[in-house]
Amino acid sequence: MERLQKVIAHAGYASRRKAEELILEGKVKVNGKIVKELGTKVTDSDKVEVEGIPLEREEPVYVLLYKPSGVISAVKDDKGRKVVTDFFPYIKQRIYPVGRLDYDTSGLLLLTNDGEFANILMHPRYEVEKSYVAKVKGIPTREKIRELEKGVHLEDGKTAPANAKILSVDKKKNTCILELKIHEGRNRQVRRMFEAIGYPVQKLKREKYAFLNLSGLNTGDSRELTPHEVKQLRALAQHGSKI
Ligand code: URA
Repeated sequence: MERLQKVIAHAGYASRRKAEELILEGKVKVNGKIVKELGTKVTDSDKVEVEGIPLEREEPVYVLLYKPSGVISAVKDDKGRKVVTDFFPYIKQRIYPVGRLDYDTSGLLLLTNDGEFANILMHPRYEVEKSYVAKVKGIPTREKIRELEKGVHLEDGKTAPANAKILSVDKKKNTCILELKIHEGRNRQVRRMFEAIGYPVQKLKREKYAFLNLSGLNTGDSRELTPHEVKQLRALAQHGSKI
């Protein structure tokens, strides 16, 4: 038995809040009858319709991909380039990425068909910590690292506090490898943050997403999340994990 709004959200139809609105507006039917009570519980055998369309109920699936660079974080691409869902031909559910990694960024990406789960992880207020390793042109000074940590001014506003650490320096090539931990998920944020302090990114990889890492995986590999990991992620996103 599951609450009706949860079933609608899990089917990827709408967020849980939107599902509640649809129920209150009388747009949801269970076994042919309009249901307006939010507490209503349904089982797998109940026929749910939302705005006249039967709800396709899919088993939720949660996978972690070590995305190679040169792959689009989308479910399809107009130009026929490889997309992240191409790595999961055996998954019949319609999964999609939780947020995105740039075409030329590699690393840890989650995919799911659970709309509610994806929404809570991406909610700007509850964004979980993400850890990136960047190779940049030049060797940032201590002051520049502090700037990154305090927040830099980007065209869409100042970035939130972050952690930055130099991992290694190649003086001959004048490059540097750094770790940057952030909570936000703005478009091309890490590249733009380094650009803003004058050190353009040459290579970027997401090593960690909350407590998840890429251990045991090679580029292009994937694995299912365990039910415990899914629970932990939900709890983290809901209760906050700010540094
Ligand atoms: N920041 C970036 O600049 N690119 C990514 O892919 C992810 C974070």
